[in-house]
Amino acid sequence: MNHSDNNSSVPADSGDGEFRVEFASRVQRLPPYMFGRINNTLYQKRRAGHDVIDLGMGNPSDPPERVVMEKMVEATYDERNHGYSKSNGLLNLRRELTSKYFRKYGVRLDPDSEAIVCLGSKEGFSHMCLALMGPGDTAMIPAPYFPVHMYGVVLAAGNVVALEVADSEKFLQNIAYTCQHFYPRPKLLIINYPHNPSTVTVEQDFFTEIVKLAKRYNFMVISDFAYSDVAFDGYTPPSFLASPGAIDVGVEFTTMSKGYNMAGWRVGFCTGNREMIRGLATIKGYYDYGMFQAIQIAAIVALRDTEAAIERQSEIYRTRRDALLDGLHRIGWEAATPRAGMFVWAKVPEKWLQRMNTLDFAMMLLEDGDVAVSPGSGFGPTGEGYLRMALVENENRLRQAVRQISRCLERREQDYSSAATPTTPLTK
Ligand SMILES: Cc1ncc(COP(=O)(O)O)c(C=O)c1O
Repeated sequence: MNHSDNNSSVPADSGDGEFRVEFASRVQRLPPYMFGRINNTLYQKRRAGHDVIDLGMGNPSDPPERVVMEKMVEATYDERNHGYSKSNGLLNLRRELTSKYFRKYGVRLDPDSEAIVCLGSKEGFSHMCLALMGPGDTAMIPAPYFPVHMYGVVLAAGNVVALEVADSEKFLQNIAYTCQHFYPRPKLLIINYPHNPSTVTVEQDFFTEIVKLAKRYNFMVISDFAYSDVAFDGYTPPSFLASPGAIDVGVEFTTMSKGYNMAGWRVGFCTGNREMIRGLATIKGYYDYGMFQAIQIAAIVALRDTEAAIERQSEIYRTRRDALLDGLHRIGWEAATPRAGMFVWAKVPEKWLQRMNTLDFAMMLLEDGDVAVSPGSGFGPTGEGYLRMALVENENRLRQAVRQISRCLERREQDYSSAATPTTPLTK
């Protein structure tokens, strides 16, 4: 029912008009969820008994190590672990994290003031935006963008300038250009390498340049390092914090969701600049009571004792990557070979792009091919023309997905070449 029509016929003070829930403008400003159409159809298809191969979301399908699950169970039976925990996380967990930073990147961090535990890195990231950004503030973000990089800022009432990540040299130049021409100058830069969705990676020198720019133009930096533990072919993704002076200007978010297969456990971290961390801790102190202690204790074990498993898991992603790329290349698709992360970022063949956008293309693959993928446009206009495919199914299923895509496109091609109306509508 149209609320305004309804209101006009109900006296304002009668008390029996239709009750209205009115969202705040910060919610009204959010666009419709781009993946909603795909997710609805996926749900309907599965309910109808279809075996859909789901490469849509970067949701790890393998379990954590047994020793981690066992620790979780043991800690659950300890009666001391059921009260509210500290909102910045157990000191021993922060210590384990900072020793990993030292072991892996040579970065020294104070677990008391330079590390905080978050309820998944997404929670930490969005609350950090709330701590730093407000009306009139501008953040530079990567394009294409992982949605929370855009909407974390928008929900904090900030403005966003999206800069293309495909060419790292150009990205650096665009940061300088934006800082020189924007007034007031951007306050924050968000970076994300290995990048989701484009799979772009960088070397340490790149971060060193970022630190120089941050100091020259006086902006803070948030590095989203979600894929720090998933890398192949001898590549180790560098930490932003390992660049000289990085801790003066920024923080880095890491997570146990990806490398440790603990996405549902919601364990993330923020490390780096102590003032920025203090801002996040202040917000979190008002919003949450910390994480279930049994999870934190199990996370300590995961960080301390399961490093070999992380390497094995990366190797699993590498073999999946190769299986998927091999299949896609065989059917004539273009896709770069990522050296980190859980995705393949594939170019939609040109002739299909001339016929439809990538959301409709992804819908077609789902409706007619039983394969779910993420359309690039779900990551902003820069992603149009691409599909993101998550390596979360096994090699056989990935090969099967390519066969199903290929057959689906052949069927549709016949529809086009016989100039007949497609058997089912391309858009719904
Ligand atoms: C780039 C990026 N950042 C953050 C996250 C969120 O991770 P978490 O599970 O720690 O909230 C994801 C998850 O997909 C991601 O891809």
